[in-house]
Amino acid sequence: MINVCLAGATGWAGSELARGIAKVSDIALIAAVSRTNAGRRLGEVLGDPAMTCPVYASAAEALATTCDVFVEYTKPGSAKSNIVTALEHGAHVVVGTSGLTDSDYAEIDGIARHRQRGVLACGNFALTVVLLQKFAEAAARLIPHWEIIDYAHDHKVDAPSGTVRELAARLAKVRPSTLTVPLDSMVGPRETRGANIGGSQVHSLRLPGYMISAEIIFGMPDQRLSIRHDSGGSARPYVDGALIAIRKVSTLLGVHRGLDSVLDL
Ligand SMILES: NC(=O)c1ccc[n+]([C@@H]2O[C@H](COP(=O)([O-])OP(=O)(O)OC[C@H]3O[C@@H](n4cnc5c(N)ncnc54)[C@H](OP(=O)(O)O)[C@@H]3O)[C@@H](O)[C@H]2O)c1
Repeated sequence: MINVCLAGATGWAGSELARGIAKVSDIALIAAVSRTNAGRRLGEVLGDPAMTCPVYASAAEALATTCDVFVEYTKPGSAKSNIVTALEHGAHVVVGTSGLTDSDYAEIDGIARHRQRGVLACGNFALTVVLLQKFAEAAARLIPHWEIIDYAHDHKVDAPSGTVRELAARLAKVRPSTLTVPLDSMVGPRETRGANIGGSQVHSLRLPGYMISAEIIFGMPDQRLSIRHDSGGSARPYVDGALIAIRKVSTLLGVHRGLDSVLDL
């Protein structure tokens, strides 16, 4: 049995994960963190009396109950200190929260190694995103031309999405996409060719009717390959990957980025 403390258990993503944990027999939710629901049982907040774990106002209070794995699912402003507190309490850590920098992770890595603990940080737990990333990396090794399309609803203020930034960063480690006509030589408004992120041309659409999708198109003479991920409006896509991360994080030492670190892909 893996005992878990979940920070952000009442949030959009964290509450779906709490429901997912309640359905499996090898993981137990023993403590939750939510400032506005401290002192209550998680089940009272989420409308499921079977979830009896107590809710605490802070990670430090929740971690007074020993757990195997701490899951960080709050906000960028609180994530780093929660992660450090969890490592200092001897827990392995799964990070779902976005927004931590490379230097944050370098610092966390030092603490985790010193404490002999694993940290698995996944910008996107959705298995279809993890597979898109891996398939795209494989394709980029063989096909030199590609462009990325980032689709989202019209209320999304940031562009491109974190998922597409992560995809572009991974492809940057393979090689830059080749532009047959370099941007400096093109005719017409340069913006129409999108933004160059780490060597990939990225085009962001923000329209009613979309939720979140990411597509990469590889082109070769007289042939094309499209790899696309689509998710709906719920946080359900992130549950299965987070459960895998919880099960595997204790096999790691230090910080590892991306769910593929623990998948045999
Ligand atoms: N990795 C992935 O696959 C994935 C998927 C979805 C979302 N995310 C990321 O996960 C994070 C959470 O997203 P969300 O949409 O679930 O957020 P949300 O709905 O606003 O939930 C935030 C949760 O954190 C709690 N919390 C505890 N301490 C907090 C603090 N100091 N500041 C703010 N909240 C605090 C909130 O409860 P109280 O307000 O009561 O404290 C609430 O339970 C974001 O960074 C998001 O980008 C990642």
